[in-house]
Amino acid sequence: MKNSVLLWSFGMLCLLLCVSCESGKEKDPVEERVSRLLSQMTLEEKLGQMEQITGGGYADYIVNQIKGGGIGSILNEVNPEVINRLQKTAVEESRLGIPILFGRDVIHGFKTIFPVPLGQAASWNPQLVEAGARVSAVEASSAGIRWTFAPMLDIGRDQRWGRIVEGFGEDPLLTSALGCAMVKGLQGERLNDPSSVAACVKHFAGYGAAEGGRDYNTAVISEEQLRNVYLPPFKAAIDAGAATLMVSFNEINGIPNSGNRYLLQDILRKEWQFNGVIVSDWNSIGEMVSHGYAESLADAAEKALLAGVDMDMENHVYRQHLTSPVKSGKVKEAVIDEAVRRILRLKIQLGLFENPYTPTEQPVFYTKESLDKAKKVAVESAVLLKNENNLLPLNNTIKSIAVIGPMADAPHDQLGTWVFDGEKAHTVTPLATLREEYGSTLKINYAPGLNFSRDKDKKQFAQAIAAAKASDVVLFFAGEEAILSGEAHSRADISLPGAQKELLTEVAQTGKPVVLIVIAGRTTEIYEQLPLVNAYLFSFHPGTMGGPALVDLIFGKAVPSGKLPVTYPKMVGQSPIYYNHKNTGRPPAGKIETIDEIPLEAGQVSLGNTSHYLDAGKDPLFPFGYGLSYTTFQYDDLKLSAQEIGKNEQLLASCTVTNTGTVEGAEIVQLYIRDWAGSVTRPVKELKAFDKISLKPGESATVSFILTADDLKFWNNKNQQLLETGDFTLWIGPNSAEGLEGRFRTKN
Ligand code: GLC
Repeated sequence: MKNSVLLWSFGMLCLLLCVSCESGKEKDPVEERVSRLLSQMTLEEKLGQMEQITGGGYADYIVNQIKGGGIGSILNEVNPEVINRLQKTAVEESRLGIPILFGRDVIHGFKTIFPVPLGQAASWNPQLVEAGARVSAVEASSAGIRWTFAPMLDIGRDQRWGRIVEGFGEDPLLTSALGCAMVKGLQGERLNDPSSVAACVKHFAGYGAAEGGRDYNTAVISEEQLRNVYLPPFKAAIDAGAATLMVSFNEINGIPNSGNRYLLQDILRKEWQFNGVIVSDWNSIGEMVSHGYAESLADAAEKALLAGVDMDMENHVYRQHLTSPVKSGKVKEAVIDEAVRRILRLKIQLGLFENPYTPTEQPVFYTKESLDKAKKVAVESAVLLKNENNLLPLNNTIKSIAVIGPMADAPHDQLGTWVFDGEKAHTVTPLATLREEYGSTLKINYAPGLNFSRDKDKKQFAQAIAAAKASDVVLFFAGEEAILSGEAHSRADISLPGAQKELLTEVAQTGKPVVLIVIAGRTTEIYEQLPLVNAYLFSFHPGTMGGPALVDLIFGKAVPSGKLPVTYPKMVGQSPIYYNHKNTGRPPAGKIETIDEIPLEAGQVSLGNTSHYLDAGKDPLFPFGYGLSYTTFQYDDLKLSAQEIGKNEQLLASCTVTNTGTVEGAEIVQLYIRDWAGSVTRPVKELKAFDKISLKPGESATVSFILTADDLKFWNNKNQQLLETGDFTLWIGPNSAEGLEGRFRTKN
């Protein structure tokens, strides 16, 4: 065939291919609609879609910007009438009528407040987390909110960090499972359902690795730690359909994440194929100047845009600084178009063009069904950490109880951090519940001793001591006010604030049995107080129904099943502390010589030659995954279906769990592995599966897990995910520190 004909044929083939792929892309009605709209937009209108401002009612400055097409999203406006008025202005009075996307932080509830996320994590119950998120989405969307900045998927290993409360703890697998559940609950079956709220996984990435647990601080993270620990929950949630993502304030290895092309372009957009909206955190674009990464706000705007941040939260640098570089050709308008395309696509997917308005019938908040769900989550989120002589549950020999401590009747603080719309008037406190449910059968001697968690005034101590002396048992509700955790609320001393330690000591000195209930946003340091109490129940700020939940647990109407989603340190000096740590060349083993055992004038000696603390030893107070019940469980008969597995193979691991106690209870069965040697060092343990089962007294169940070769892969520092041959140990047990042990190998 002559060359010219060949060339012609090749050209036609290319043309046909282009047309087909173009038509393939345009065949998608959503994309077609986006392209049509985009083609009509001015640069000013495009930059307007990339602008998110905070609400301010129906103020002229907002209305005028809306009319000019200058606002894409408004956060923190929650009055449905105002939302509808603003939306009507956008739809009917702006040139293109593009609806506004209204956003709000609905972190653990809108009106009905669920336990803080770290508390929900203690339930190890994805179904419950999903149910709670669904309630939150129904309530928030009824007020006009269709975008929320949750779930937070930041791995937290440092109890000093205020925001550890907002995530699901220290483990990538548990965080992934619960993050996906929250995304599902928020987004529902389809985004264009009026009750669906677009999720926003945050803060991408490595925010929890802030140096010293100081919020917003520097994170230095190796590639293998980034890939093996900090990124997996985001990948899982994006694979589960999370519609949007928020970048974090911090830098990783010298690059602030608002301008981190490696994270946002190479990994998120290219490798993970995430095509959802990326929003900055509040002012985080402009903060690249403070970081020392951008020379000006204009430079910061360009860096963020080119990195892939689509929407500017409340910084206004996109609208103020992107017009001239686009006009000058320094920044291609096509980059702006891609960002706007993602924003318009989200609004179409949410059905905002067809249903821009919020139904104005009275929203339904705090339904019995919602409150019952909130109570159930609070019950399963509580963790029983000590129960000497089975003091709990209290039985009918108890005729009088002393209710002491600043958290017994703290309706605002019981709700926890990141509560904008929940109302303390709806909070049911432990004291209110005790009076309601037991006031007629028990003598309730209430004497708080302190008025709030930071209270240092001891003038009420005498009444508290007297109440203890006059009672059969003391219920001591200690903890942290809500404001002592959350954003920008890190603590260097994580012990009980105020004079709580002194009050607890004096109450314990009465000799009465003490049940300590801590309600806080982090595992508070309790090492010195623990010996003073007979039982210890921990509740991460349990929300609206925390009172009924805790009282049911105290009196045995419910059985504790929660397990720690974070390692509980003896003292703050051990932080960061986490179970899936590396072994080091000198791992602590056996007895550790403590600081007081060192002889005077001891000659120079490297004590034990291992990595530990003289004054805190090597172990935490309680390990990750730990929690007691009112019954006991026995693990037997570990079976592995294979001693070796190669790639694309799997093994079945099973064991028998028996309820060896006298009451029905739920047990969170956990499977861990250890890879003994790798081309990069591997953690001493990694959670690879878990299952929550309920067993009646005497009942047994076989719990089985499938472990695939993919579950054994890990990332090295060269961005390679590997399955290497070698020896593994596997445990199935009740927490990260114990379990039935088995061994297997991976083979080529
Ligand atoms: C805050 C938080 C972020 C939140 C956003 C909007 O600074 O870092 O988690 O979603 O601003 O309130």
